[in-house]
Amino acid sequence: MPLDADDLDPHVWGADVARSYDRSSAGMFAPEVVGPTVEFLRGIAADGPALEFAIGTGRIGLALAETGVAVSGIEFSEAMAAELAAKPGGEALPVVVGDMASTRVPGEFALVYLVYNTITNLLTQEQQVACFENAAAHLRPRGAFVIETFVPRLRQLVPGERYQPFEVTDTHLGFDEIDTVTQLLVSHHYDFADGAATTFSSPHRYVWPSELDLMAMHAGLRLDQRWADWTRAPFMADSAGHVSVWRKVA
Ligand SMILES: C[S@@+](CC[C@H](N)C(=O)[O-])C[C@H]1O[C@@H](n2cnc3c(N)ncnc32)[C@H](O)[C@@H]1O
Repeated sequence: MPLDADDLDPHVWGADVARSYDRSSAGMFAPEVVGPTVEFLRGIAADGPALEFAIGTGRIGLALAETGVAVSGIEFSEAMAAELAAKPGGEALPVVVGDMASTRVPGEFALVYLVYNTITNLLTQEQQVACFENAAAHLRPRGAFVIETFVPRLRQLVPGERYQPFEVTDTHLGFDEIDTVTQLLVSHHYDFADGAATTFSSPHRYVWPSELDLMAMHAGLRLDQRWADWTRAPFMADSAGHVSVWRKVA
């Protein structure tokens, strides 16, 4: 059966997931991950202000705000936004609950950013295009839209195969279910602890760097920088992900 965007629920970030998000994503909260991310974004934002699409529990937004940049957020999940609001500094960070593909917040921004593969949570090309248009609408001239996301690993997928493991350990089994016709992917996670398993699956529309560049052009943005990661490692043929910066045409 092909994967169909109409059958997939992209809003998997309910109260239970929100409560455990910081714990289950602990590696992404490590200083060696957050530090370079914030340093990179701080450099692009300069004096700000900055807007984070899909700000979640504030992993990056709160840390960026601590450097003196005025940060706002858009977040679909009320539960995720509530976790952010309950943290130190959270009450001072304005978050609008809504869809990053269409929700407008007041202000004109030096930087709009969308990290941790979250562009792929929009399950259709139309929604991803709308997200770029929404980012552009929030930017001042020469303002930057920054995305961090993965490069699809289709070269490792045996033709005709549909499942691809990405982590197999004693405590975690992670595999992707990939439909190369619809460009949809479901990431399945099985976590094992104390003899019990918990599961979590998130649907994505994987997207190539070149397709993102075209979406950017469509929205009046042009590619300014592309790196393999937040440390500005060169983007290469075997890079697993990229950090891309598009600027609004003045
Ligand atoms: C992987 S988490 C990333 C959260 C945060 N940016 C971080 O780096 O920790 C994905 C987040 O995207 C949010 N999200 C998914 N689709 C969204 C949409 N269409 N509009 C706004 N937020 C969305 C989810 O609710 C969730 O909080």
